[in-house]
Amino acid sequence: SLVTSHHLRHVESMARLPSGAGKISHLNAIILGESLASEENDLVFPSPEFSAQALVSSPEQHRQMYKRSIEDPAGFWSEIASQFYWKEKWDPEVYSENIDVRKGTVKIEWFKGATTNICYNALDRNVEAGNGKKVAIYWEGNEPGQDGQLTYAQLLEKVCQLSNYLKHVGVGKGDAVVIYLPMLMELPIAMLACSRIGAVHSVVFAGFSAESLAQRILDCKPKVVITCNAVRRGPKVIHLKEIVDSALTECAKCGVSVGLCLTYENQSAMERKVTKWQERRDVWWQDVVPKFSSKCAVQWVDAEDPLFLLYTSGSTGKPKGVLHTTGGYMVYTAMTFKYAFDYKPSDIYWCTADCGWITGHSYVTYGPLLNGATVVVFEGAPSYPDSGRCWEIVDKYKVSIFYTAPTLVRSLMRDGDEYVTCYSRKSLRVLGSVGEPINPSAWRWFFNVVGDSRCPISDTWWQTETGGFMITPLPGAWPQKPGSATFPFFGVQPVIVDEKGNEIEGECSGYLCIKKSWPGAFRTLYGDHERYETTYFKPFPGYYFTGDGCSRDKDGYHWLTGRVDDVINVSGHRIGTAEVESALVSHPQCAEAAVVGVEHEVKGQGIYAFVTLVDGVPYSEELRKSLVLTVRNQIGAFAAPDKIHWAPGLPKTRSGKIMRRILRKIASRQLDELGDTSTLADPSVVDQLIALSDC
Ligand code: WTA
Repeated sequence: SLVTSHHLRHVESMARLPSGAGKISHLNAIILGESLASEENDLVFPSPEFSAQALVSSPEQHRQMYKRSIEDPAGFWSEIASQFYWKEKWDPEVYSENIDVRKGTVKIEWFKGATTNICYNALDRNVEAGNGKKVAIYWEGNEPGQDGQLTYAQLLEKVCQLSNYLKHVGVGKGDAVVIYLPMLMELPIAMLACSRIGAVHSVVFAGFSAESLAQRILDCKPKVVITCNAVRRGPKVIHLKEIVDSALTECAKCGVSVGLCLTYENQSAMERKVTKWQERRDVWWQDVVPKFSSKCAVQWVDAEDPLFLLYTSGSTGKPKGVLHTTGGYMVYTAMTFKYAFDYKPSDIYWCTADCGWITGHSYVTYGPLLNGATVVVFEGAPSYPDSGRCWEIVDKYKVSIFYTAPTLVRSLMRDGDEYVTCYSRKSLRVLGSVGEPINPSAWRWFFNVVGDSRCPISDTWWQTETGGFMITPLPGAWPQKPGSATFPFFGVQPVIVDEKGNEIEGECSGYLCIKKSWPGAFRTLYGDHERYETTYFKPFPGYYFTGDGCSRDKDGYHWLTGRVDDVINVSGHRIGTAEVESALVSHPQCAEAAVVGVEHEVKGQGIYAFVTLVDGVPYSEELRKSLVLTVRNQIGAFAAPDKIHWAPGLPKTRSGKIMRRILRKIASRQLDELGDTSTLADPSVVDQLIALSDC
């Protein structure tokens, strides 16, 4: 019953794959080093040249490394960890864990007792190794022609100045700092400045509304909020500071007052003289930060000290504060970045994600910088001024690794190949995808058109909670299958379980769980360890439950099939249906709401809301707009429903539970698959809903 239409679609597409028998022998052939017929239509092989230079260049090499990581995790990970600087080494155990709720409190620790600093490892270590002059960040503004760059040495100085300022205003180890910034260089600078002094950053995506920001501030009670006055996104100017102002006013009403709002003047979007200002509380970044020393001693922290909080959506209304700690996260993001993208020091890397999401934390900021990589940070919108912008940027900076989301691939695919083919893109060598399942046709377009059939695609499956990649191709090792995230990363043991939590072997589909911990795993939900256990470790005792469905084919490839809980994935953004519902019911004319995800051509999933109005209120276009606006204001524009479906009543069981399965079928117009509706308290609501489908 938890299997969604999304899931079925994938199972169907799997069923169309040619029978597995032949493929297995082919894979054996690869392992044995024999040549293969590359016309196998569901296997896409890395070129021999690519494999020859790859960090992991054959299935056999992958197998050996993987085997070691599972059989001897302590040895495997301590070897990797030794590449970093630790003030003191862990002692004596590399890790300890209990992820089995039946055996007591869930607890995961990696490198406990060791002390280190992630900012030191990302910046100072690279400068000391002689890479101070290497570009750390290329910044590309919203408007073509607007750009900047920082070398590792310069980035370190900027970070130190901000660290010193933060210390000066009283921010210390363990204190929370909320960062609400767009993709300026100041965003990674602010993250690193916090981690340098042991402060815990909580970045809030700058597309979230004042209410959502307030909710997050109330939860973690930061000493400082860091923002900027405004940002240009495409043709629009967004007044971020005003959003922060109203969030802070809201928080003050609830008894949480933040004494300092450090505001970066983003001149290209807005002049400071027209920015609304609250003396004493508000301080211009440019007025204070540059006055501080560009050297700042590092705060050494325990490997298990918190690094950051990042709120994400769950199946209830309240966002969850996912907490990551320092040592394991550092080792894991660095290692996954290096292997999944076959990173080499000469690469120029661009990830289109915003630092407001986990992808921006692990794979814009920490993972790449820990590897000493050159990273492109892009402020703007990918189709502004036109749909060729991404490839213009790729050519401008000679980007060699390009990492993005399927929704962008699909939207650019719709805009036409000309926008791509008029740019050279010859610097590209590895492509990456994240955030939602990539459908095979988008995969093929990405591969053939964007990558000129040369660049392997790393379809990386992971989550805010996992910190880093969990199931991902290692380009150069195995042949790929369009739409499959392939195999687990080192140290990761995925299992597929049935409804009862029994592991299923071989070719199968079910719920994706993970056995054992990995260094990048989140350690708790901030302030709510019980919810951590209930959500992730109780559904299938003995395992971490991902919330995703997954199939495994005969060759052992993994096919992620989407969420099996009440979380939907819109353009790669995780949104809880309950959050949207609670925004809708806060509208005075809305009596009840039920939200489901529907397939959407570009966004992957769209938000489809069934709304019951207060008695006597007539349906109107105006009301529809006002409901959508309520969601935009309460959560953010990215959560606006695509469709409001008027509902005189909702299909409920006799015990009052809304049957979402039926709503999903109505939303996706699969009316012949409604199934048994006789258990409903009032089966006639279904016909009423169908009748109102096109209103
Ligand atoms: C989905 C984003 C299929 C999945 C990193 C997961 C994916 C949720 C993939 C986490 C992928 C992410 N293939 N599905 N390559 N990557 N997902 O926390 O449903 O924003 O549970 O982390 O996105 O979303 P989150």
